Amino acid sequence: MVARASRGLSGRVRVPGDKSISHRALMIGALAVGETRIAGLLEGEDVLATAHAMAALGAHIERTADGIWHVDGVGVGGFSQPAGPLDFGNSGTGARLCLGLVATTPIAATFTGDASLQTRPMARVTAPLEQMGARFSGTNGDRLPLLVTGARAAVPIAYELPVASAQVKSAILLAALNTPGRTTVVEPVATRDHTERMLKAFGAALEVAEEGGGRRIAVTGFAELKPQPVTVPADPSSAAFPLVAALITEGSEIVLENVLLNPTRRGLVDTLIEMGGDIEIANERQSGGEPVGDLVVRSSRLRGVRVPAERAPSMIDEYPVLAVAAACAEGRTEMAGLAELRVKESDRLAAVAAGLRANGVTVEAGEDSLVVEGMGTPPGGGVVETHMDHRIAMAFLVLGLAARAPVTVDDGTMIATSFPAFTDLMTGLGARLGEPRDAA
Ligand code: S3P
Repeated sequence: MVARASRGLSGRVRVPGDKSISHRALMIGALAVGETRIAGLLEGEDVLATAHAMAALGAHIERTADGIWHVDGVGVGGFSQPAGPLDFGNSGTGARLCLGLVATTPIAATFTGDASLQTRPMARVTAPLEQMGARFSGTNGDRLPLLVTGARAAVPIAYELPVASAQVKSAILLAALNTPGRTTVVEPVATRDHTERMLKAFGAALEVAEEGGGRRIAVTGFAELKPQPVTVPADPSSAAFPLVAALITEGSEIVLENVLLNPTRRGLVDTLIEMGGDIEIANERQSGGEPVGDLVVRSSRLRGVRVPAERAPSMIDEYPVLAVAAACAEGRTEMAGLAELRVKESDRLAAVAAGLRANGVTVEAGEDSLVVEGMGTPPGGGVVETHMDHRIAMAFLVLGLAARAPVTVDDGTMIATSFPAFTDLMTGLGARLGEPRDAA
């Protein structure tokens, strides 16, 4: 795909439902007894893979209209042996959270995924889940494919997270639901808390205490989950692309409606405001137990900033597009605490640095840091390798809207994992995006 210099983006749009909340709504709905109705579910490939997995484990799942899904759950501990392997496609969240679900259910299941997912570390979840009694085997080290044998008699654990990861935290909390007694997870830095919010809403016995900058979360097993309606707000990690696009293209003003503003997810918005971004948060309200608002975004002259390491968990998926905003700012932007970017859908630190360099931007990439020299209007003209990573593809297409020469990405197909309507939504706002053969 190719993106060409654009100006005057305008319109009011709603990006698709939050990916993290969508996965959890299907999984927690599958554990409740009775029917959960979900509105605004993200219908991207990652979430559809989770829906298939829940159906393969015995839940009844039905789509009745755009974004409207009904999950008839089997109850905690009620999953049945799946007939074949569970394929999570590109999705680390789907795979890791579901490992937690199966770990304390007395069934065996093979977990697999695409080439990108098969390179991603799973020991971070299998280690605590083994302590709870699950067994894992495979021929690819700690990577997928893995055969999981759930514990017959699970044991509760107290676990301190060695990496700030909502996926690891959530896998343990989900495993704890079918475990007797009290399981405790301590996270040194607060990570996204959608699992905790949703489990509470469904009636789980869950307590959260603030501890330093982090949290201690305790779950007591065997509570019955009661179905709840779930309304999924717009995904801030998807909104990030039109948001940065509007800031860095001249003469733009757009409104992004109903965006999730959970404090554990709003690091990018706060950082862009610090950079001088004209972002107004209107109509702040609560929706389905989460804070949401409309973002009014206008073209802005951005300045480079230092982004502290503590902020990383609240914007971990947004660094590729932040680096693009930094390239279009005046001055240097320094980002720290980025080690986790190396184990996402691709090595995002390396992919971002290579993509920016290919487009004439000066970048310094450390083991866990990135420094981008802002250029106002970067030269562009490069071809970016996306490495099966949707966010690398979308971030560099956004760069192409503000660069002097067009920016090409080698593969746009992975965008469908999280934001299938990306191209239509962006072109609807006035962005010049298309296939390389399309007329300029
Ligand atoms: C997610 C947690 C984050 C994030 C991912 C979604 C989640 O991963 O990068 O896109 O829904 O829990 P980590 O837990 O590995 O940081």
